[in-house]
Amino acid sequence: MHEKSQVLLNKAVADELHAVHQYMYFHFHCDDQGYDLLANLFKKTAIEEMIHIEKLSDRILFLKGDVEMAPAFPVEKIRDVKGMLKKAAQMEHESAKEYNLWANECSANADSVSKQLFESLVAEEERHFDQYDTETDNLEKFGDRYLALQSIERSKTRGTAAGGAAE
Ligand SMILES: [Fe+2]
Ligand SMILES: [Fe+2]
Repeated sequence: MHEKSQVLLNKAVADELHAVHQYMYFHFHCDDQGYDLLANLFKKTAIEEMIHIEKLSDRILFLKGDVEMAPAFPVEKIRDVKGMLKKAAQMEHESAKEYNLWANECSANADSVSKQLFESLVAEEERHFDQYDTETDNLEKFGDRYLALQSIERSKTRGTAAGGAAE
C-alpha cells in the first residue's frame, strides 16, 4: 500500500537515525568538555529525533511495509563546538527541505496522512534549526566566554552538590 510513501518514510528514518547518532556523538564530546548546556541540547534533540523515527515507523508498518534501520550517513567526527553547531543546523535545514518536498509527493500520490506527518516534522526540524542557529549566534557574540561560562556553571553546581564547598 502506498509503496512510494514507504520509500520516502524509510528515507526519513535513515536521516533521523543519522541525526540521533550524530547528535549523541556531539553530546558525548560536549559533556566530556564540561559544556552542559550544549550537551543537554544535543541529547534532548537526539531523543526528539528518536520519537520522529517512532512516528515514521508506525506509519510504515500501517502501510504494511518494514522499517529499514540503517542510518543515511556515518557520524562525522567533529569535536569543535562551532563545527558541531554548523553541522547540526545544516542537517536540520536539509531535513526540513526534504520533508517539505516529500509531503508534496505524498499528497500527489493521495496519501494525506503521510503528507501530514511530513508537514508536522518540517515544523519540528525548523524549530531544531532555530535552536542551533541561536547557539551559533551566542558563540559568535560571546566567543570563548560562552563556553567558559558553561564550564564554570558545571563546577559551581558540582561544588554545591558536594556540600556547598564552592560557596
Ligand atoms: Fe527529525
Ligand atoms: Fe531535527
